[in-house]
Amino acid sequence: MADLIHTPEGVRDITPDELKKQLEIGNRLLDVIKEKGYMLMQTPSFEYFDVFANNMGMTPSRELYKFYDKEGNTLVLRPDFTPSMARAYSKLYYDVTDPVKLCYSGNTFVNGSDLNGRLKELTQIGAELYNDDSCEADAGMISLVINCMIAAGFKNFVVSVGNGNFFKGLFEQMGITGPDEEKLRALIASGNFYKVEDLLNRIGIDREMIELILAVPNDYTTGQSLAGLKSKISNPKSLEAIDRLINVIDILSREGADKYISVDLGLLNKYNYYTGVLFRAYTFGFGDAIMKGGRYDNLVKEFGKDTPAIGFGVSLDELMIALRDAKDDGRSANNEYLTFALTKGRLAEKTLALLEKTGIYCDEMKDGGSRKLIFVNEELKVKFFLAKGPDVPTYVEHGVADIGVTGKDTIDEEDRKILEVLDLGFGKCRMCVCGHKSDSQLLEKRDIIKVATKYPHIARAYFNNIKHQSVDLIKLNGSIELAPIVGLSDVIVDIVETGSTLRENGLDVLEEICDLSARMVVNPVSMRLHSKRIKLLVDRIKEVL
Ligand code: PRP
Repeated sequence: MADLIHTPEGVRDITPDELKKQLEIGNRLLDVIKEKGYMLMQTPSFEYFDVFANNMGMTPSRELYKFYDKEGNTLVLRPDFTPSMARAYSKLYYDVTDPVKLCYSGNTFVNGSDLNGRLKELTQIGAELYNDDSCEADAGMISLVINCMIAAGFKNFVVSVGNGNFFKGLFEQMGITGPDEEKLRALIASGNFYKVEDLLNRIGIDREMIELILAVPNDYTTGQSLAGLKSKISNPKSLEAIDRLINVIDILSREGADKYISVDLGLLNKYNYYTGVLFRAYTFGFGDAIMKGGRYDNLVKEFGKDTPAIGFGVSLDELMIALRDAKDDGRSANNEYLTFALTKGRLAEKTLALLEKTGIYCDEMKDGGSRKLIFVNEELKVKFFLAKGPDVPTYVEHGVADIGVTGKDTIDEEDRKILEVLDLGFGKCRMCVCGHKSDSQLLEKRDIIKVATKYPHIARAYFNNIKHQSVDLIKLNGSIELAPIVGLSDVIVDIVETGSTLRENGLDVLEEICDLSARMVVNPVSMRLHSKRIKLLVDRIKEVL
């Protein structure tokens, strides 16, 4: 057969059948949006770099597709529509003071990392409302998202609504700024309230405030509960944020749309792009939000016109995947079951023993000789599957498993969008730089050294960011100790448990990088949709530990 040419990683041909379905759904969404008075417009596929630089975009500069024109200007394939639309709006509607409703449909391009199953070219549809900072505008945009979810065919979904100013006010009140604020913001945004507690304790925040913050994801998830939260807050920014949410939810309730709404004050954005109400539509079995949006009152002025704005966007390609996973009856398999991805072998055995103490068990798994990979306990509605350690974070990130258990080494190496919620205390070992004792002076010098490892990300982060030493990394898959003995590398970065492999091969620990143990990780969407069940489980395991 002739050599056939494939598409590059992250882009694809869409077959006539698939395109037909995608266009049908896209048109349905656009009809819903246009019915609300939004006018379809188009911006160019590429723009000057400045439009997406700094605070304007959500995409890090290294993930932009950049190129030059003949005049030497840096151009960028649009990674996102919102800055592009804000630029166009500023120019085209500069003198207009009434609300302006615009919508778009087109492709975006993000040069994300390879081999994680994410597309680099996506078809996006969205709507932006300018010149209207009312609660009605917020409610209208959220209601548009709900209508689009219904029009797309989802039956079982949740739209989480928050207000970024709630935590902004609390951070100010607690005097948390700089790197601590950044860390806290990231932990809250990802729903990792277990780590939030640790960090607040370390900063020295009083117990009453910590209890209040920890109660946010569980006790304040409805419009009604927000009134109770108000009595516990003193700073005006957070109070204003709560009042705004109460108003918006009231408006949605009058339309009967509140059944789709769940309050999530932990919705925060890493970027300063969003300024108030934020929202995300989730469905079971899909590891990420399907539709996202919020208020961004500070963005449009960067393009010349100081005006409030709110909008939402959806990637049609991701929506099609979520629809396929949600099945026709709108109930995904993951809806009822809590699914665990465990690391095959000793780690799985220890995890199961621990879970058994909390009342979760799976007799089917006790047949040691079995080659089966998936196990179910129908009564408890739990599913387990066994995977290779490095694949556990991948299953959890993609949402096919709600919970995973694997080593800290794997979690750091894979660097996935998952929440690390618990240190299970077993599988303890250390990540170390090892080699011949006589070579330890190589680590003092600023020379480039050769480092063999199964963990290139961890090794690079340690040498470059902590030691500020340049290294040539050599990726190996096992028996790493061999490398310095046969002269493939100067040192290795590897796991040391008992130290016997090193001793038997005449090698030593030269530096310790970090302690390791088995950790429990959770998919961020599962954390929101199964929050009660997962919290109960984590609390029970904590008691047992
Ligand atoms: C790990 C690690 C070390 C060894 C350390 O290897 O890579 O080689 O265990 O344990 P110790 O300190 O108790 O001797 P593993 O057994 O996973 O096999 P691998 O060499 O194929 O990676």
